[in-house]
Amino acid sequence: MSIRIKLLLSYTGMLVISLVMFALTAILITVAITGDIHSLKDFYKVHYQLNPLTEQEESIFLELKSIAKKNPDQLLDKDLLEEYDFKLRIEQAALYVRREKETLFKSYTFHQPNMDHALPDYDLNNNQIRNTFNVDERFYSYAKYDFSFSDGQRGSVFVIRERSPFGEMTRRLLPILLVLLAGVLILANLLLYRWITKTVVNRLNLLRDSANHIKDGNLNFKLELCEKDEIGQLNEAFESMRLRLQESVDLRFHYEENRKELISNISHDLRTPITTIKGYVEGIRDGVADTPEKMERYVHMIYSKAVDLDRLVDELFLYSKLDLKQVPFNFQQVDMRRFLEDCMEELSYDLESKGIHLEWDLNKDEPVEVMLDLEKMKRVILNIIMNAVQYMDKSEKSIQLSLHSDHESVTVEIKDNGIGIPKEAISHIFERFYRAEPSRNSASGGSGLGLAIARQIIDGHGGEIWASSEQGKGTSLFFRLNKARPKERTSNETNLDH
Ligand SMILES: Nc1ncnc2c1ncn2[C@@H]1O[C@H](COP(=O)(O)OP(=O)(O)O)[C@@H](O)[C@H]1O
Ligand SMILES: [Mg+2]
Repeated sequence: MSIRIKLLLSYTGMLVISLVMFALTAILITVAITGDIHSLKDFYKVHYQLNPLTEQEESIFLELKSIAKKNPDQLLDKDLLEEYDFKLRIEQAALYVRREKETLFKSYTFHQPNMDHALPDYDLNNNQIRNTFNVDERFYSYAKYDFSFSDGQRGSVFVIRERSPFGEMTRRLLPILLVLLAGVLILANLLLYRWITKTVVNRLNLLRDSANHIKDGNLNFKLELCEKDEIGQLNEAFESMRLRLQESVDLRFHYEENRKELISNISHDLRTPITTIKGYVEGIRDGVADTPEKMERYVHMIYSKAVDLDRLVDELFLYSKLDLKQVPFNFQQVDMRRFLEDCMEELSYDLESKGIHLEWDLNKDEPVEVMLDLEKMKRVILNIIMNAVQYMDKSEKSIQLSLHSDHESVTVEIKDNGIGIPKEAISHIFERFYRAEPSRNSASGGSGLGLAIARQIIDGHGGEIWASSEQGKGTSLFFRLNKARPKERTSNETNLDH
């Protein structure tokens, strides 16, 4: 529910409750004053406050009064009295006439034996002719007129109307009822206040606390989303902001860690050849290389270390440029088979001189067109083959190259029969600076960047690279590339034609 509706509801609620309370109070006060719930409609007629009878009853009473004034003895006539009583009974009142202590007429509607005693005494001045009285829990209002009969005896004529006992009760309980009403009003107000506080203010406070957390740099909390109202939406926006912030903080942390690790790796890898070079140079300077053969060996070592260094710096440079996506890829459409054949031909002499048997099974049927950056893809093949050579421990050395293509993609496998890679290392070999056995490999000059570079390049081609290996038996490196789409093919073919 939206806050606007909540506020509207709460104000409307308060208004309705106030109105109801007001109406109830008015009714209760009216009942307390008039003593009758039926007389409510007459409440605002001022004369009625002074007059306990209704208008019709009053007019009958006035008739009786004038008879009593002018011709009091007529009131001894039972039929006449019956007639008036009948008229009064229609109006829900009744007649009572007395002479001295004796009851001359008492309407049969009064079932009150004690009524005679409850009635007021004679007052021939007729000072108070309208009033109320109680008989046994019952409540009556009346108008009376005192007069003298012709024989001088005193008489009274009463028009009496019974009021609801509820009126009397209300009259007694009025203060309690009013306090009760005020209590209900206050309670309703409190409940509405609590509702608004709980659904609006508390949640806003929570939001403020969260903002303070963020200000203090603490992002590890969660905002509970309970409702979908305006505050809920605010919470949601806030929560997604927090998540974003946390992500970016994490990422920054990750980058920072990466940078530190990279620097430490680089300094470590550079230091090793430099220390060696320094050692040999010192040897020459101190005259340790005192024969031309020794000197030549020293110089050769220095040279080969410098070459290692050069290669390492080169790889680092390439890797960091690839990492920063600063190297543009020059894609060309080529037949993957032709490309691999060219690579193998280039490498075969070198490999065979190392006693490695190179086989390739490229299934010559049809060309497999792919988009390649030739120079970079050559680097991939070279890095993989260099590893195969580097991690070879068998006397019969062999490297096999094969190609499988399906409808969408082409997969190249380069398989060797070298030392293999431990299972737990396989998932890491594409990470930069990772070496399965650092101690041994550093001696052979590997930087741990070869496969990381290969992966960057394959990624740049939109392909994927992976390895499978059996320790002691050999390793297979695979990479898969998407085939060039037919549309690309035709456009490129026309390009080549020109
Ligand atoms: N053909 C392979 N046979 C055995 N181990 C391999 C092979 N290729 C890669 N590895 C393992 O993967 C690690 C990472 O390879 P690479 O990134 O080229 O770094 P390196 O500079 O050490 O060759 C190597 O150190 C080696 O342990
Ligand atoms: Mg390598």
